[in-house]
Amino acid sequence: MDRILIRGGAPLRGTIPIAGSKNAGLPLMAASLLTEEPLVLGNLPHLADIVSMANLLAQHGVSLGMEAETGNGRGELGRGHTLTLQAGRIASTEAPYDLVRKMRASVLVLGPLLARCGIARVSLPGGCAIGARPVDLHLKALEQMGADITIAGGYVEATVPGQLRGAEITFPFVSVGATENILMAATLADGESVLINTAREPEIVDLARCLTAMGADIEGAGTDRIVVRGKRSLHGASHQVIADRIETGTYVMAAAITGGDVTLTHSSLALLPGLSKVLGKAGIALTESEAGIRVQGRRLGERPTLSGVDVMTEPFPGFPTDLQAQMMALMCIADGAAMITETIFENRFMHVPELCRLGANITVHGASALIRGVPKLTGAPVMATDLRASVSLVLAGLAAEGETTINRVYHLDRGYERLEAKLSACGATIERLGS
Ligand code: EPZ
Repeated sequence: MDRILIRGGAPLRGTIPIAGSKNAGLPLMAASLLTEEPLVLGNLPHLADIVSMANLLAQHGVSLGMEAETGNGRGELGRGHTLTLQAGRIASTEAPYDLVRKMRASVLVLGPLLARCGIARVSLPGGCAIGARPVDLHLKALEQMGADITIAGGYVEATVPGQLRGAEITFPFVSVGATENILMAATLADGESVLINTAREPEIVDLARCLTAMGADIEGAGTDRIVVRGKRSLHGASHQVIADRIETGTYVMAAAITGGDVTLTHSSLALLPGLSKVLGKAGIALTESEAGIRVQGRRLGERPTLSGVDVMTEPFPGFPTDLQAQMMALMCIADGAAMITETIFENRFMHVPELCRLGANITVHGASALIRGVPKLTGAPVMATDLRASVSLVLAGLAAEGETTINRVYHLDRGYERLEAKLSACGATIERLGS
């Protein structure tokens, strides 16, 4: 199994191009099931999760054509790929366990398959490293739209006599995936659906934009109430995927933790409301211009120092859970203490013992972690358990004195495109070692 070796201590300096969003790309790919015409998605990142979704869709009968976006003059760290997906005929309405267990977002094919074919059999994703992550909200909403759902042999078996019907659905709490699944299903339902307490993430807005380009009638995406008037059919469209706000935030933290000066291109701080304020309190300057987002960190020992700030994760526009581990890595070397509270997932602190191996001082009390800043971290071998936990260890390794080896690199490949190349281009000493 591959490992990543980092020799820490160098401040990052340079420019990092931000890729298209993984978490916007996955539901957009699933949306191709809603029409027999081609859906062309540009700016898709090169990631293992995108490949997993492509494999799943291929098995449903979707034909896929990938093209590199060339001629952008940005060389190797270019602007992603364009993927054409065409679900002319749905060959299978089953999403098998072997494909779904690799990636939970596979469950996003359920709403589109049911809306288009009236039948779907999708493996239950099961638990994952960061929490139980059930899909009860998705299923209950589809039942409200007229679906018959049973669970048998680890599969969700859903059928709908005739067509899904529009319904008023109030989600008991905010779920990104349930909002996406039901939004897609509602575009082909009979009549109007009113979705209440919906997620407001930019990925939802991007999905609604694409569905609208495909002929859907949607109002309110980006708010907590979305109205969808169902259509008999949708048509093909061409859509550019938004920038990855979590990749953006991760490199913001990478620049900050090394006391560097980095400009991030092809992204926008508007995707991360509140981040400038939180990091401003910590002493990190974030500015945005036509050239990109500039991050200026503080060197160790510099005055005023990096300060501890308290953060609580919340649904958008709050602080994202997908940046919690990276923020914690940053707080490890802050002056003073910081309290980080995780409210979205019940088990998202697995990076804590690994950060402690690098010399961090962190204690967990229920859903909160108290981080007492230390003057420096020191390199060590560490192990990661999920995507964002892994990258927090990369950040800590970049700031640590000496060598850090990160095991289980496949987690990183699910969500960070060309991570070593992007960091090396800014002066980091980081390399991938084969097993
Ligand atoms: C999306 O997951 C993202 N994944 C996650 O990113 C992200 O952490 C999460 O939203 C929260 O922002 C994708 O977009 C592919 P949820 P999702 O439904 O949709 C509970 C990453 O690192 N819940 O908003 O699965 C659930 O267990 C990943 O890129 C139910 O109880 O998240 C969680 O505690 C990790 N029942 C909370 O709601 C349900 O039916 C929020 O989950 C659905 C969710």
